[in-house]
Amino acid sequence: MMLTTSLYLSLALALGASAQSVADKVAALRIAPTSNDRIKLLNDNEFVFDFLHQSTGETNGAGGHTVAASSANFPAVVGNGMAMTIGFLGPCGINTPHVHPRATEFNFVVNGTLQAGLLVENGARFIFNELQPGQAAIFPRGAIHFEFNNGCEDALFVAAFNDEDPGVDQVAQRFFGLPPAIVNAAMGDIGVEQVAGLEAKIPDNIALGTDECLQRCGLKRPDQPTAQRQPRVSANALPAGFAGPAAPSSPPATATMSLPSLSPVPVQTVQAGGASVNGGASLTGPDGKPDPLVLGLLIAVCALGVGYLVLAVVWFVRSRRERQERTRGGVYFRTGAAFAPQGLEKSQPFEAYEGSHERVTPYDAPSGTA
Ligand SMILES: *[C@@H]1O[C@H](CO)[C@@H](O)[C@H](O)[C@H]1NC(C)=O
Repeated sequence: MMLTTSLYLSLALALGASAQSVADKVAALRIAPTSNDRIKLLNDNEFVFDFLHQSTGETNGAGGHTVAASSANFPAVVGNGMAMTIGFLGPCGINTPHVHPRATEFNFVVNGTLQAGLLVENGARFIFNELQPGQAAIFPRGAIHFEFNNGCEDALFVAAFNDEDPGVDQVAQRFFGLPPAIVNAAMGDIGVEQVAGLEAKIPDNIALGTDECLQRCGLKRPDQPTAQRQPRVSANALPAGFAGPAAPSSPPATATMSLPSLSPVPVQTVQAGGASVNGGASLTGPDGKPDPLVLGLLIAVCALGVGYLVLAVVWFVRSRRERQERTRGGVYFRTGAAFAPQGLEKSQPFEAYEGSHERVTPYDAPSGTA
């Protein structure tokens, strides 16, 4: 125990120290007046970056990993305006849609076949290519793009950037990390619960790609880590019941409905401090995908049920009154059409639908801290 602790401690200290020395070196290089002064600040071996043996610059997911050399971990790039990332994509691995805010990328395929798609800006068409080994594609600075290994073997790419700090902005992770009400509005009111549920699904990069590829390669989509999502602070907090370890004191009225096919999936919420907690869950199928079909069916069935109930009550009340009127010698000659509750078939189930739409979004109370 003591040994493990001290091992971790020295590892943390070593990592902290190397991060500090990288930052110090980058700072010194940045203020060096000339290139010759920068060269004097670097040893020969500091001109080399070993992509195959790195503990820094890594991004890991279930579908593979990337290693990046930039001013964050490789001081020699300072003053040279370049950076590089190597992508190690496993079978069906995808470098999920992202943007480099400060650099254009030139992506060279070493082996495997990569599908590369990009969206440069509003109004520009979607550009798509299948890259063979030896081919390279350009992704303009700021373009949303992805690289997908549509094969059943590992694939390798080399991406050069024309900035020493290209930066990366993962589209799904960042978009769903906006305030849930804003995401809901941007998505045409799909429901804040659904926003939280969808966000909980966003896998870490490199993720697993299309169902078609996975089936073709005989692979299953496992539970993927989801730690790269946008950390929550108070301004983009999830609604109560999703955010923290504290269970909501009064769960929504319909949360007690038992829905065996809608297995709850724990929501992993990454907090600002980096600690993870389990939150609520979303309306998702057992395959881990949001299930709009089941939700739609549920709403339809509830709406129908409520509609029929209302019809039955109205019918009962009216026929009772009718009977009473008859006994009193009142109205005899009502036709069936006049007797039918006019417009009820339309308006009542619709109102029921509208009402239940808000409420029939069962999710489980958050469980404990992970
Ligand atoms: C690419 O190279 C790696 C490493 O040599 C190898 O494991 C992989 O199978 C290769 N992929 C293809 C599609 O040839």
